[in-house]
Amino acid sequence: MSHQAHPTKLTPACLSKMRAEGTKISMITAYDYTSARLLDQAGIDVLLVGDSLGMVVQGKENTLPVTLEEMIYHTEMVARGAGRAIVIADLPFPVVQLGVESALNASVQIIKRTRATGVKVEGGENRVPVIRALLEAGIPVMGHCGLLPQDIRRLGGYKIQRDAETLRRDVRAVAETGVMAIVLECVTADLAREITRESTVPTIGIGSGSGCDGQVLVFHDMFGFTDPAAHLPKHARRYAHLGEVVTDAARRYIADVRAGSFPSPDESF
Ligand code: KIV
Repeated sequence: MSHQAHPTKLTPACLSKMRAEGTKISMITAYDYTSARLLDQAGIDVLLVGDSLGMVVQGKENTLPVTLEEMIYHTEMVARGAGRAIVIADLPFPVVQLGVESALNASVQIIKRTRATGVKVEGGENRVPVIRALLEAGIPVMGHCGLLPQDIRRLGGYKIQRDAETLRRDVRAVAETGVMAIVLECVTADLAREITRESTVPTIGIGSGSGCDGQVLVFHDMFGFTDPAAHLPKHARRYAHLGEVVTDAARRYIADVRAGSFPSPDESF
């Protein structure tokens, strides 16, 4: 089944079919209705309401402060803008860390109060009981192995993951639960390619080379909305410089207002 054969809503099963056909999966983070609508119109396969919103939308230091209510607020907007794309919401810290009941309660709220397709769970073998419980409740799950931003306190920084044995074990355990796909974050390219070959479910890479079954980028990184002075991760290709476009347009507007040339008679009633 080619992805062009899905003019209507994609389902989690479509991701495995795309993999089987050799069609790469495209995923971008989204946090509001307008960006979701634009990305959906462009033909994106998956919209991820990432807890990265803590950093790129809220300007915080990491993803840890993001709350369940905030995830629901943003996911509801994104799902309204998505026609064809699958919509996945991150389970924010510490929903999964608090165990099965906490993860079930939070995921049920996300599914009932938004039109999300499913949720994403960070973690490896240690998160299998949570993932199984969600799948048994009929909630589709995307896994996330490799660099785990919710573990930033323990990791001490956003570092490339090279421990092949741990990564293989984690991806195997998470894949066996029947998740729709697994995000592989910051894994060396050769290892990510091998893990992808061995995996029974599609992998979606970020900073993990071209050997994954799909790719994901953070909206603000790829469209040039992040602070130009801030460090852009090596993997984040910048497809546009929209931050500069906005600043330039705002400068021209300010100049027009100050000069009294906006609004013109044609723009007045
Ligand atoms: O929160 C997020 O945006 C993510 C991606 C980096 C995969 O989890």
